[in-house]
Amino acid sequence: MYCKLDTDPLTAEEDSPHFSKDVNNCKHEALEAEHEAPSSNESKNEKVVPEFYNKAQKYWSAVPATVNGMLGGLGYISAIDIQGSRIFLRELKVPGKKLALDCGAGIGRVSRNLLIPIFETVDLVEQDAAFAEKAREICTSESVCRNSLGEVYNMGLQEFSPTHKYDLIWSQWVLGHLTDPDLVAFFRRMRLSLQPGAYLCIKENVSTSKEVIKDDEDSSITRPLESYERILREAGFRIVRKVRQQNFPKGLFPVYMIACKSQPLGGN
Ligand SMILES: C[S@@+](CC[C@H](N)C(=O)[O-])C[C@H]1O[C@@H](n2cnc3c(N)ncnc32)[C@H](O)[C@@H]1O
Repeated sequence: MYCKLDTDPLTAEEDSPHFSKDVNNCKHEALEAEHEAPSSNESKNEKVVPEFYNKAQKYWSAVPATVNGMLGGLGYISAIDIQGSRIFLRELKVPGKKLALDCGAGIGRVSRNLLIPIFETVDLVEQDAAFAEKAREICTSESVCRNSLGEVYNMGLQEFSPTHKYDLIWSQWVLGHLTDPDLVAFFRRMRLSLQPGAYLCIKENVSTSKEVIKDDEDSSITRPLESYERILREAGFRIVRKVRQQNFPKGLFPVYMIACKSQPLGGN
């Protein structure tokens, strides 16, 4: 799950060796159902969901711990991406600047370039041990400003339960690696781990049709924007801001940044 070519059957424009060509309109409901299925489907479920995560783990373990690796061969868009995120955060006027969390942090590209310059301390979660180690290195090198890296959690987001309260939680190009039930549960845990008034921000590829697009190579899915909005609401969030990233090369999936706050109890 990274910036990748829009392989949506309705809008696909190009082909590239960096991206999976094996795209099918995933029966995502099936993945959902299999994940939740009780009794008779249980043994099938036990296989499908771990396999979805194991395959992604295997895919990422073969990717170089570089910016290019994180961005599917499009390392040159990193600066545009960070600039877009910086403007998004500036306009949000994040209330606290003490502690942020970077989810699916990879080698710490976002932590180092976006979050550490703003927040006193940045924790990160990353499932791949080599990436987590690289992130530690990149985010503690001498050229990084006085702010610092905090905890590095080497685990999947589907297992991660924060023990701190954050002033911002940022999650980028990773949520397509979670099943819908795990994504709702993850958002719920994040909601409980925000300081009052703090934001959860997600930055993800979205499909241009209403379909969920499955990528069997990296074991991820690309959801339509509406799915993210629905799942966020289901988890108790209120969407405050939604902006499409500009100036990315043509032919990629659209990338959206969404900021949300915990819905007050009893709110709609
Ligand atoms: C496209 S990279 C993005 C990295 C970083 N967010 C960035 O924008 O540079 C996706 C990252 O998500 C990680 N990842 C994949 N599945 C994950 C999971 N279930 N939990 C946590 N991280 C995951 C991968 O190991 C990889 O580092």
